[in-house]
Parts: sequence; C-alpha cells; structure tokens
Amino acid sequence: MADTLSVVDNRTGKKYELPIQDGTIRAMDLRQIKTGPDDFGMMTYDPAFLNTASCRSAITYIDGDKGILLYRGYPIEELAEHSDYLETAYLILFGELPTASQLQAWTHEITIHTMLHENVKKFMDGFQYDAHPMGIFLSTVGVLSTFYPDAKQIFDKGSRLHQTRRLIAKVPSIAAYAFRHSIGRPYIYPDNELSFTANFLNMLFKMTELKYQPNPVLARALDVLFILHADHEQNCSTSAMRNIGSSHVDPYSALVGAAAALYGPLHGGANEAVLRMLKEIGSVDRVPEFIKRVKSGEGGVRLMGFGHRVYKSYDPRAKVIKRIADLVFTVTGRNPLLQIALELERIALQDEYFISRKLYPNVDFYSGLIYQAMGFPVEMFPVLFAIPRTAGWIAQWEEMLLDQEQKIARPRQIYTGPKVREYVPRDKRS
Ligand code: ACO
Repeated sequence: MADTLSVVDNRTGKKYELPIQDGTIRAMDLRQIKTGPDDFGMMTYDPAFLNTASCRSAITYIDGDKGILLYRGYPIEELAEHSDYLETAYLILFGELPTASQLQAWTHEITIHTMLHENVKKFMDGFQYDAHPMGIFLSTVGVLSTFYPDAKQIFDKGSRLHQTRRLIAKVPSIAAYAFRHSIGRPYIYPDNELSFTANFLNMLFKMTELKYQPNPVLARALDVLFILHADHEQNCSTSAMRNIGSSHVDPYSALVGAAAALYGPLHGGANEAVLRMLKEIGSVDRVPEFIKRVKSGEGGVRLMGFGHRVYKSYDPRAKVIKRIADLVFTVTGRNPLLQIALELERIALQDEYFISRKLYPNVDFYSGLIYQAMGFPVEMFPVLFAIPRTAGWIAQWEEMLLDQEQKIARPRQIYTGPKVREYVPRDKRS
C-alpha cells in the first residue's frame, strides 16, 4: 500500500500524487495544483484550524475520543496521583521525569527566583484599586521583559533556561500581588521554606501571623490542579504563544499574548462563566428550565464548562477534579453551588442534545467550585490557570524555536473584498 494520496483536478484532468506522512499531507504540496501559469496554486481553507496540524510536537498527546491526556507519555491520572507541579513542569520542559537530585536542584532554582524586583511592585501599585487581576497579571508579565533584556537572546540555551526559571518562579508572585492589590492588602514576600503551592497560598492569604502555615490538603489540591492545567497541546493560548514567539520576540512578551488569549470566556475564563451560570440558575429545581434554554439556543446561552474542541468524551482532567473537589470540601465545607452543578451534569449526560453533540464536562466545570471554596474570587480563576500553563507555554515556545521547519507564522487568506477601484474625491461620494 503506497503512502500517497491521488488527487484528480477535474478542472484540468491532471492527476497528482501527494505523499502522506503521519496521516497528513503537506498543505504546500497542494500549491502545484494549478489551472494555468497565472494561477497561484491551491490552498486549504480552514477557519479556526479545525483540521490543520501547525507543528510537530513531542510534549502533550490527547486522544479526544477516548479521553486520554499524556504529558511526555505519562497519563495525567498518574501524574495527578504521584507527582507535584514542579516535577511535572520539569517533565514538560525537559522531556523526562527528574532524578531525585535533579528535582532538588530544580526546586532550589525555582525557589530562589520567586522574588519580584521592587520596581515591579511599584508598577503594580499603579493599577486602579478595582483592576481585574488577570489584567494586572498579563501586563506585569510584559513588564518583566523590560527588566530582563537578556531574554532577547532566544537562541542562547543558557538564556532560555534562565528566563524559564524566572517565569515559572515569578508568575505565582505576580498572581498573588495582583490578588492582594485587588483587595487592598499589602503584598507578601515569598517564603523559601515552603513548597511551590504552599508558598503561593502564603503570598495570597498571610495576614499578621509571623509564619503562614497552609492547610496541607489545600496545598496538595492546588498542586494537582496545577498539574492538570500545565499543558494542553495546541489550544488557543498555546498557539498564540507559538505565533507570537515565531517573530523571535522575547518569551515575556510572547507570554503576555498567550495569557491574553487565556483571559477569554471561551478559554481560561470558562470556569468564571460556570460560576456565574450556577449562581444565575440559583437552585436545583431550576436546572431543567435552564437546560431547555440552552437547547433552544435562545440568546446564545451555552452550558458553560461543557464541550471541548478536542474532547468528544469525558475530559480526563474533569474526572480528577471531581475527586479533588470532595477532598477540598472536607476542609472548606461544601460549596452550595455543587448540588446545582451535579444536577446539571446528571441531566445533560442523559439528554439527546448533549449526547449527539458529544458534549461532556470539561476541566472548567468543577475547578471554579474548588477555587471559590478555597477563598478565591472568580476574577482570580484565569490567573490560577495561567500560573501552571506557563510551563506548557514555555516548553511549546522552545520546541517551536528549535524546530527547523518553523518560520514566522503567517496564514493565508481568501480575499473577499472589492477588486481595484479608483479613489473617489470626498465631494463626489454619495
Ligand atoms: N452548550 C450548549 N451547546 C454547545 C456547547 C455548550 N457548552 N458547546 C457546543 N455546543 C453545541 C454548539 O451549539 C453546536 O451545535 P450545532 O451543531 O447545533 O450548531 C455544537 O455543539 C458544536 O459546537 P461548536 O461551537 O462548533 O464546538 P467548538 O469545538 O467550536 O467549541 C467550545 C468548543 C468553545 C469549548 C464550546 O464547546 C463551548 O463554548 N463550551 C462552553 C465554554 C467552555 O466551557 N470553554 C472551556 C473549554 S476548555 C478550556 O479552554 C480549558
């Protein structure tokens, strides 16, 4: 069996043999298909990239039909069970699980980079008192590029590693400062004796006590949530990171664009939208009425936290999150909105509308309930997503930079505007 695709152009009767590799054909191989010498050649039209692979990647594997998610070959369920965020970040970034001494060194390197320059703090002070923490977060990440001009040396391996450490280490500090700023509390400096997530809780919630002691169940839950969010192959924000990075800008500037993409309600803003939806529904008995509205398409209402471009079965992350939720609620008490979420899920999973469209809960359906129970306002949800996704963004950015086949990202278009026309003087326009 030949690994080729035969294409007949019925306009010309010509036949072409296109090589197939990894179940794909190269879009550039279509360019030879022309009706004549003036023809530009055939392109593919794929709005929103529904069926286009833009890169080769060895980082994350998803089987959307079977509900499988692997980081560097390791199932997400096993990592959530046995690993912690920093170890998983190492795996995503460097391709292998670290040895004990590698993990110790990596943890040390991240821990000693958590401080922010005092001028970054001053910059953050300039935000309005009610500024959205995600707006503060992404702007401040951009500011880091002005503090670290060495980050422009993107083809220097040592420099890339340095920026990687800085970014992984500093995003929780920026996130915590953004949170404290938005509620008018003083910023808390990192505590190097605590783990990555325990220190994050310290920077968020420390009050007047001399030493903050986070609840270990909550610190572990946050670790697992961070593992689940660390990478998800070529989603909207990661594609933004790669696209922006393909211009060879520094990683801080590229990461601002990725974080901005994550801010949107169809991506990282979905768990915020889930909570708003649950509040709007208000009680379990109003669930059937809401489902009816979603199905009628009235006002474009969607069941937030349901559906996914890639997963056409239960999102494996949602399964892990449901277990974590039970654990967190033993400490914080049950989130009263949980009952409504469970009822929504129960009804939707039996309903023809959702079954036929393969709409299942995604990672965001339950994560908001956990974050809220832990004391986070909804505005912090996209920020909590951006912290761990930073590992994925950097790994994908570096993979793109080192990929010999990649160039500056530049899609084509089908032009639908007017043909050339003459300029009309203002007084002659109707
Ligand atoms: N509620 C109701 N109907 C839905 C939903 C939903 N959540 N999601 C999709 N549909 C319907 C669409 O109306 C469409 O129906 P139609 O064929 O009758 O027109 C069909 O299912 C296919 O939907 P698309 O919009 O084509 O699917 P797409 O892959 O473009 O969208 C997305 C994926 C954006 C995630 C979508 O399912 C959605 O809006 N979900 C709610 C938002 C959400 O939870 N986002 C988080 C994603 S996970 C993440 O970013 C971490």
